[in-house]
Amino acid sequence: MDKSCAITRLIHPEKQVPQKFGSVQPAVYRASTVFFESTQAMRNRSWQDDYDYSYGLHGTPTTYALADRIAALEGGEYCILAPSGLSAINLVNFTFLQQGDEVWLPDNIYGPNKDLIRQLKTQFGIDYFLYDPLDASSFTPSAKAKLIWLEAAGSVTLEFPDLVGLVEKAQAANVLTVLDNTWGAGLAFCPFDFSAEHLSVDISVHALTKYPSGGADVLMGSIVTRQRNLHLAVLRTHTLQGIGVGGDDAERIIRSLPSIQLRYAQQDSNARQLAAWLSQQDCFAQVLHPALPDAKGHAFWQQVCGESNRAAGLVSVLFKPEFSLQQVDAFCDALRLFKLGYSWGGPMSLVMPYQLEHMRQPGHHYEGLLVRFCIGLEAIDDLVADLQQALQKI
Ligand SMILES: Cc1ncc(COP(=O)(O)O)c(C=O)c1O
Repeated sequence: MDKSCAITRLIHPEKQVPQKFGSVQPAVYRASTVFFESTQAMRNRSWQDDYDYSYGLHGTPTTYALADRIAALEGGEYCILAPSGLSAINLVNFTFLQQGDEVWLPDNIYGPNKDLIRQLKTQFGIDYFLYDPLDASSFTPSAKAKLIWLEAAGSVTLEFPDLVGLVEKAQAANVLTVLDNTWGAGLAFCPFDFSAEHLSVDISVHALTKYPSGGADVLMGSIVTRQRNLHLAVLRTHTLQGIGVGGDDAERIIRSLPSIQLRYAQQDSNARQLAAWLSQQDCFAQVLHPALPDAKGHAFWQQVCGESNRAAGLVSVLFKPEFSLQQVDAFCDALRLFKLGYSWGGPMSLVMPYQLEHMRQPGHHYEGLLVRFCIGLEAIDDLVADLQQALQKI
């Protein structure tokens, strides 16, 4: 190498710094090309290896480190990362649903998942049915039922489902149970061990965009399971579809994870204080938060989250019917600390008005217009003052 040109030595440096280095944060690896030690190592590798160092898309030490931490957070065994929560949802649907299958969705499901399933119905003839998450008897799978989506709690109307009843019924019917666990974040309850009977869902999907990121500045999703066959099925689709995440984004989430429990607890406490304050205001017909004793699904929340006594920092209100759309919009626009935005789990409080008629099945009549608050980490007195001044304006 002595005689090689400077440009070659820049690309193939003579000295290698020692790799042994201890620090709190792991290194960020960025790679498309990944080296093999030998042709034998290259030929012996398999996409099924737990740490498949073969191509940047499949994973790097940074992304595998994050995947291991998310599996630990949720009490699972295996984790696959996707570029967004919705992409993780898509991976599950695409892996397990085939033409002629039937999929069951809660009628308060995260909207884009329902839109995606509608698309699958049109393109691939996959049938979908809605069930009432508060009533397990509304879930009536036929022999063609393949998968049931669960959401605890629904992310806008915040009903906590009969998770125990639904999972028991799905298991009896041999239907795959998939939970969108973004609300619980692995902190409110363990999706793989959530009742006195140690019930478990088969797969937990998590929008890491929310609490694990914590900064409202990274998009990512995860698919966690305890069953290797399910993990490998999703991994195959992941590999075939060319899905991967960048090392910088993974490192940002790794950095936020040690504080997730503190942030979740603070936002939970802030949300409950605000829910109590909102309940005393005349203009609201109802305040929606699963820990409120009169909330829909409160008993189911207690059954599953009673031990942790945790809930995410989301609270919704239903304005009394006399408030018009213009008034509700004016209220949202008048808020100064609460910003108009969708993606929760960050430090800043958010507000969003929703039109409910598209969201739940007929029979679930909601009086008035709904506004969802995602509570951040600001001082609670300042948030109350902000709500007060905005309410005065309408
Ligand atoms: C309950 C729930 N699941 C999944 C997602 C999708 O996450 P992402 O924004 O990372 O695609 C969201 C995002 O708002 C969500 O609220």
